[in-house]
Amino acid sequence: MKSSVLMVFAAFLAGATLLAAPGLAQLGERPGTSVDTSLGFKDLTGLSIKTPRTRIVHTTQPLPPGGSMYFQVYDPFLAFKMGKDLTQREFRPRDGVFAAGISNFKGLLSDGETPAIIGNDQVSCGGCHALPYRDAGAGTNFAKKSGLGRNATHFFGSGIQEMLAWQIRQKMMQQIDTNRNNFVDLSELSSEHVYVSPAPRPAAKAIDFGSSGDADGDGQPDLNNIFRVWYVDAGGSVLPGATSLDDPGVGGYNFILEVFGWGEQRFNLNTTNRVFAWDPLVAHGGLEAHDPTTAYDPDNDGWSQVSNAGCQQSWIGHVPPDPGTELNSVGLSLDDPDGDGSIHEISEGDLDLMEWYMINSPRPAMGEQTAATAEGARVFNALGCAECHVHTWLIEAADPGNPDIHKRYNGDLRFFDLDVRYNDATARLEGSLTPLYTVDGDGRHFPNRSSFLVRGIGTDFRHHEMGPGFTDQQYDGGLVTAFRTGLLWGNGATGFPWGHDGKSMTLDDVIRRHGGEAQAARDAYVAAPEGRRAALIAYLMSHLLYPTDQVPTDVDGDGAISDHFVVAGEDTGVERFNPEWLFKVPGEIEGLVANPQGVLVRSDALVNVGEAYGLDLEYLLDSDLDGFADVQDECPLTTGYKDGCSS
Ligand code: HEC
Ligand code: HEC
Repeated sequence: MKSSVLMVFAAFLAGATLLAAPGLAQLGERPGTSVDTSLGFKDLTGLSIKTPRTRIVHTTQPLPPGGSMYFQVYDPFLAFKMGKDLTQREFRPRDGVFAAGISNFKGLLSDGETPAIIGNDQVSCGGCHALPYRDAGAGTNFAKKSGLGRNATHFFGSGIQEMLAWQIRQKMMQQIDTNRNNFVDLSELSSEHVYVSPAPRPAAKAIDFGSSGDADGDGQPDLNNIFRVWYVDAGGSVLPGATSLDDPGVGGYNFILEVFGWGEQRFNLNTTNRVFAWDPLVAHGGLEAHDPTTAYDPDNDGWSQVSNAGCQQSWIGHVPPDPGTELNSVGLSLDDPDGDGSIHEISEGDLDLMEWYMINSPRPAMGEQTAATAEGARVFNALGCAECHVHTWLIEAADPGNPDIHKRYNGDLRFFDLDVRYNDATARLEGSLTPLYTVDGDGRHFPNRSSFLVRGIGTDFRHHEMGPGFTDQQYDGGLVTAFRTGLLWGNGATGFPWGHDGKSMTLDDVIRRHGGEAQAARDAYVAAPEGRRAALIAYLMSHLLYPTDQVPTDVDGDGAISDHFVVAGEDTGVERFNPEWLFKVPGEIEGLVANPQGVLVRSDALVNVGEAYGLDLEYLLDSDLDGFADVQDECPLTTGYKDGCSS
């Protein structure tokens, strides 16, 4: 076993010469220690990506070892790290990045002819979501639908967002779907407004998500703009081409809360974290995913599969790019829609792990709380900001056996919580890690699916008409006026710019731009004495992001943060949330070495990459290092980056 790890790893290191060739360099992939002489391989900070690119094999059972479900169940922190690495990896031509005929235009605007966004522009999620670096950070603007651009949000806590979005739908359906057939029949349309309460304590006002009927007679349900609606026949099956309740054959509709993105007008963005993995991969990187989990819907009701991570997927409006109409002898899709010769560029297993990372993406932190921030929180409530920027939401505990289908809550699907806040005594941000799983005698991890009180998220998950200050004119002249209430968590750390278009260089400016439904709150802010406005800004600025693997953190749950946290016999320095410390086979660092200046430094490079990352596990082993695991490689001993056989 050991020798095969070493063999694979030696082969990987031998690949260094390839990496040095122009056009093939992959900045993030540096597994080497101080003794490595291969060009471009050494990284004594240990922060680079340490594994070669190998498509993950999708499995739905914990065994065999090395499939996506194996990692999730037996080695969840490794699954998390592998998924995270896929968001940071800089994909290369040999991985199939971009298309054969590269166009930087993607999609069409509502005029049906104007290209919507810039595509084929990035080789990594991390190219845009870069602040903080190597995390689900915020970042740049890019040209999307309007010359103004779209400001990249952070996606810390994005799993929590998706869980709440799904729960909101469930609670709405408890009220709307009286016959419990899981869609809204025409007979169930009503002008009654549907309210959902965010959390029982502190008692918050229930949120109005619109009504299921069509009182204004425009053919569309009068739900809030944030819902994506699709029309079905009387049996609940998707009616292709139907766009209105009045279309022939329509028996009702179904809907999902489109929780991600700043907002669009009746054209919505990705509904789940999984879709928000494969969609940017193809839009920005030309990397095409073959993903039955999102695409396979035999009963054609618009709901595809529940992913390994436990999240219901839907293909509505968004179909994964590589359909897999033709498969090779080992089950890989030969379709290659972008014609660049690379097949099966992103696998269903890759998406399992990316989704696992995103579902567990740590939530933002709270910075130093002072008299000013406390005053700011009071001002925030008093001015009416909290009407939309709702502070606290409750994830209900799982209840899979409930006889009422709309009360079968999922519970918190994460397997850990990272709570990061400012410690006055030590004057720094500090984290504490809480496991949210149980382990059985076989070493299998199961999320507890308990309830969780989400604090500080600062949104009502609704779209609001925001007035001229935020109106977005698209390339084709179309206007977008409704936007999702900006999430406040993390907002003090995203730095400028603020707002969906990134037009505001200060928080004061983004608040003054509020209008429309927020006019009264905005006017109250402008009229408030300067001291109160300053307190409010201080409060907003205390909503922070942080480099998840650098902040001092109590990882082992002993109530203290060690300055000499020992992992695998080595002193790793200050205790922090490096997922490698929590692998089934924990990462073993190289430790003290002399640097080029002769000074002793701690090398965080791992001496056991192969074992820690499971590189020789049956379903991950990629003997010829061409990106296809042996079990899915028609030529397992011939390096063929394109399809397993040819380069
Ligand atoms: C070209 C820059 C760019 C790249 C590359 C990119 N994103 Fe984004 N991302 C954005 C922008 C801009 C938004 C806001 C989208 C909008 O409102 O239209 C966003 C939004 C998101 C959101 C939604 C967060 C929220 O609360 O709405 C998630 C999740 C996300 N991105 C994940 C990813 C992942 C995963 C990748 C890589 C597979 C990726 N992004 C690649 C620019 C980018
Ligand atoms: C009617 C609902 C509503 C009210 C009331 C409201 N907001 Fe907002 N807020 C929004 C929406 C919607 C956005 C997103 C605007 C955009 O960029 O498109 C937003 C964005 C923001 C942002 C920027 C978020 C980001 O990520 O860039 C901040 C900060 C903010 N609001 C603070 C406030 C404060 C402070 C108040 C009270 C004075 C307030 N808001 C009142 C709906 C509201």
